Amino acid sequence: MTNPVATAGLFPPIYDINANYNTNLENGPKLSTPIPERPPSTPQFDFLGVTKLSSRVGIPAGPLLGSQWVKTALEFGADFVCYKTTRTHAHPVNGHPNVKYVFADQPFKTSKLEDPLYVRHQPPETMEQLAITNSFGMPSQAPEVLANDIPKAIAAAKPGQVVIVSIVGSTLRGRSLQDDFVLAAQNAKKWGAQVVEANFSCPNVGKAKEGQLYLDPDNVYAISKAMVNALGNTPLIIKLGAFSSKDEMEAVLKAAHRAGVKAVAGINTISADVLNTNGTAALDQIRVRAGICGAPIREVALQFVRDARAVITENSFDLTLIGGGGVTQQSHFDLFLEAGADFVTCATGFMWNPLIFSQYHGNQSTPKATLKEVGKLV
Ligand SMILES: Cc1cc2nc3c(=O)[nH]c(=O)nc-3n(C[C@H](O)[C@H](O)[C@H](O)COP(=O)(O)O)c2cc1C
Repeated sequence: MTNPVATAGLFPPIYDINANYNTNLENGPKLSTPIPERPPSTPQFDFLGVTKLSSRVGIPAGPLLGSQWVKTALEFGADFVCYKTTRTHAHPVNGHPNVKYVFADQPFKTSKLEDPLYVRHQPPETMEQLAITNSFGMPSQAPEVLANDIPKAIAAAKPGQVVIVSIVGSTLRGRSLQDDFVLAAQNAKKWGAQVVEANFSCPNVGKAKEGQLYLDPDNVYAISKAMVNALGNTPLIIKLGAFSSKDEMEAVLKAAHRAGVKAVAGINTISADVLNTNGTAALDQIRVRAGICGAPIREVALQFVRDARAVITENSFDLTLIGGGGVTQQSHFDLFLEAGADFVTCATGFMWNPLIFSQYHGNQSTPKATLKEVGKLV
């Protein structure tokens, strides 16, 4: 690879941050490295009773905008991939720009960031400095477009792989938030989803209430239960954000378990004020606060996994744990598995290094004995 940036582990991103969302959707992903050949692998990791996966690593909701993106990610060796969050109606993207690099060279210690972060105008030099703000507002294509595109994405999975469809409810259409979540989940199932993930945790949707849904155990129970009833034997994952304490998390996981949710995934981005160096808002005045992802959120994400594993074990919950946040190098996948995750996701890291999965597969040896104790190795 002749690209000098790639020598530090970063490629030019597969999502062109200078182009708008729709251009990326239609023309992406933008590749600057060939897709490596995958060595033979054996599907062996049970995924929610639906299928067996060849590995425990995949991509969460976000970077995969449509079927072409999903197909490419599967070819790069992500074995479970999430189709970007969809709604029951067409929803526009937030204004451009949607992604900026930020300076955040120290790991965050908490999910509540009081101090602002500042944009960096040049790409970082190493994957450890890779930190971005992303503010898309969960755009969605219209149901008739999704009805055509989601089956194509699902069909791209090879043996040992699976495509999850992420959904979110809205309150804007004369239907309750709960009913809209249910309709979105039913649509995903109708279009072929074997697994549905409900996003309870997007921090970029401040005007509606759904951004903080995951912090409210009563609503987590009610909305999850309604979706579980509607989905029948199709498993439901709920996507969570970081919690300020293990007790706060425990109440939510109890609600999820009681509702029949099969897996919890986290974390989502951590929100912060993002400013230019002169103190003005980096995105625009109504989006001063935006979600941060990439390397600096890894410590908070690992704590989420440790706490969630403890809660699941102490309560004997039948909940699969999908951990992620801040995975920017292949060695980070093992940190999450060792912290107690059953499966690990990588979003920002994959966008700047699409080889991260093949690097992980290349280095993978026999799964560690401790993972058997989690009971997911079959
Ligand atoms: C470009 C981009 C778009 C995202 N969009 C969504 C989304 O639509 N739904 C969702 O649940 N999470 C979304 N996320 C959050 C990711 O799923 C993930 O939780 C977060 O980025 C932290 O992981 P990371 O540090 O590996 O990026 C998005 C992330 C990125 C980078």
